[in-house]
Amino acid sequence: MTTRMAWRRARAPEPGASRSMREDVLAGLRAAPKTLSPKYFYDATGAELFEAITRLPEYYPTRTELAILRTHARDIAERVGPNVALIEYGSGAAIKARLILDALESPAAYVPVDISSEQLARVASERRREYPGLRVLPVCADYTTRLTLPDLPAGSRKVAFFPGSTIGNFHPAEATAFLKRVRTAIGPGGAMILGVDRRKDPQVLHDAYNDRAGVTAAFNRNALVHLNRELGATFDLTHFAHRAFFSDAESRIEMHLEALVTHTVTVGGTPVSFERGETIHTESSYKYDAARLEAVVGPAGFAVREWWTDERSWFWVVLLEGLAHA
Ligand code: AVI
Repeated sequence: MTTRMAWRRARAPEPGASRSMREDVLAGLRAAPKTLSPKYFYDATGAELFEAITRLPEYYPTRTELAILRTHARDIAERVGPNVALIEYGSGAAIKARLILDALESPAAYVPVDISSEQLARVASERRREYPGLRVLPVCADYTTRLTLPDLPAGSRKVAFFPGSTIGNFHPAEATAFLKRVRTAIGPGGAMILGVDRRKDPQVLHDAYNDRAGVTAAFNRNALVHLNRELGATFDLTHFAHRAFFSDAESRIEMHLEALVTHTVTVGGTPVSFERGETIHTESSYKYDAARLEAVVGPAGFAVREWWTDERSWFWVVLLEGLAHA
């Protein structure tokens, strides 16, 4: 599994967990318009479907970001300098982390951060095997909340790595709040390597979230399968259609599940009614231009120091550094 973030991972049911899941889900389904957090995409099937999405011909972000990293890894490494402690937010983007680690001059440490201890242990042992001299210091945490880093080698520069354009799944205000926490974690001399999906021809965006094979539709609908299993909900999948469209005003792809008939579903014992045509908003994926990105990173105390892009200008890998006065 690659490129997953903490809130994108379904946790194993814990005592009390299903009650809070029930409350969280019902709060969203009682709202107008109805919403469901994208974290409910990611049970085991959802994680596999997301992997399949990254390989779709229409879904350009993963391979485009990889191409940028392959082309500019040396440049990126030079720019961040030697003796870097690379902190990967949401470990698991194995190829991407390796491209950076391979290019870095005498990396001081690799710190994968992940909410899943299983995933973390696997990533840590893989990196230890691949980089025998490297200090690998895994941190099991939900990095969307405050993060305490382990003691890092003296004199190392903390560089956060957050690829995958997952920043786009945050509302801009949430993205700023998250980046602020990263800035606190990496300290004044730190930096961040961030993957960002760019605004582009709406048709390209539309196709990326409406693939012909229907994998994105299955991924979207799988959230309901997840609720049926975990909460004993009664969603009938044939009553919901996948909808994904680009909102120019919001600069985001919106994913929804649209009720095809007026009906009532039970969720954790509570009835939830749907009018025909009513939707559940399941995900936003923000697409950035320079002004929008700067408006998100600036208030977090960062400035964009470098912009690396691909030949079609579809994606950015950017280098953020802290503003002196922030
Ligand atoms: C994880 N994230 C960056 C993906 C995206 O493109 O926003 C999730 C996804 N949703 C539908 N397809 C992919």
